[in-house]
Amino acid sequence: MDVRNQGLAGVVTADTAVSMVDGEAGRLIYRGYDIRDLCLHYEFEDICYLLWHGRLPDQEEKEALKAEFREQRKLSKELISLIQLLPENMPMMSVIRTCISSLGGASFSWPPTSDQAVKLTAIMPVIIAVRYRWVKEGILVEPNEELSHTANYLYMLHGSIPEKAHLMAMNAYLILTMEHGMNASTFTSRVITSTESDFVSAVTGAIGAMKGPLHGGAPSEVTKMLGEIGGKSNVEPWLRDQLEHGYKLMGFGHRVYKTQDPRAEALKEVTASLVEKDDWLELAHEVEETAGALLEEYKPGRKLYTNVEFYAAAVLRAVQMPDELFTATFTASRIVGWSAHVLEQAENNRIYRPEAHYTGIVPK
Ligand code: ACO
Repeated sequence: MDVRNQGLAGVVTADTAVSMVDGEAGRLIYRGYDIRDLCLHYEFEDICYLLWHGRLPDQEEKEALKAEFREQRKLSKELISLIQLLPENMPMMSVIRTCISSLGGASFSWPPTSDQAVKLTAIMPVIIAVRYRWVKEGILVEPNEELSHTANYLYMLHGSIPEKAHLMAMNAYLILTMEHGMNASTFTSRVITSTESDFVSAVTGAIGAMKGPLHGGAPSEVTKMLGEIGGKSNVEPWLRDQLEHGYKLMGFGHRVYKTQDPRAEALKEVTASLVEKDDWLELAHEVEETAGALLEEYKPGRKLYTNVEFYAAAVLRAVQMPDELFTATFTASRIVGWSAHVLEQAENNRIYRPEAHYTGIVPK
């Protein structure tokens, strides 16, 4: 076996019109649009429509989709009971995997549809918020009928209408992390769809892939680092000490992007207006600047820049997202990309059936 194919690195598994990741140029394109423009000028629901239908919605289509999102965010009695019943110490990713899996009724039968995508996307942050507040406070919070998808998520988590700057930052974060080519969870969703299994199974499997620390678990490492640094005066000595000991700086470097990660740059731009109000973001900006110079000193020519996890951690902290919900919140955004791939796979389907190289004994 060619070991270069281990982990399918470099293997093209599908034609896709959903997104393009250009690591050399530092570009991420969703359906022909640069993500920087999308996250600054559009709402979450606009980009769902774009990824699922291939074009941006007009005003009427957007309003209809927003209404559908509001309608679909109501939880059934059975789902609320399940959220209350699951063991208190169950990780949130396992909770959402179990809750989504429980939805596999007839309305989710093959073939996958954009209505099914709305239902699953609308319900995911509601499950997270209801479960979180139930375990922490013993209360069952209700969605707010008046709010957009993003605003409602923050509202349900904190119990108050989010301020505009926080809403903008969260909206940008969710848009920027919706889709990123053929990553492990997206591939999982396409493999499951290729068997003509249902939408719920594809998303349940993808959540399982996302749960692994090699895929969905990095932003909390950045908050840990910022917490240890503590304040501006400690930035330079702390970073230098890490590099002296040969440790990696969390939130820097990327396998694909050998220039600025466009998602990190966009998040930095979106959060610029929040910096003065938020100590955490101010510290993040300081760390980025100092680390840039130190990495050039200790690792010259390695092209190490902040990755999306760095500013994701800063944004999630700024909107008071608890660390334990970081990966689940990432999942609530990535479900949009999975859904686009599920729909695309089903449109022109052929079951995935790769091969394995047998290394065992062959009987004589
Ligand atoms: N801090 C210091 N040095 C680094 C860092 C870093 N964050 N990242 C890479 N380097 C150095 C390595 O030590 C290595 O140096 P060497 O040539 O002297 O051996 C060189 O840069 C190349 O590093 P690799 O680990 O080979 O790069 P790779 O592309 O395999 O790894 C990765 C990319 C895993 C993201 C790496 O940069 C890293 O571990 N970063 C920190 C963790 C992190 O931020 N993870 C989130 C990634 S974003 C995402 O997953 C969505």
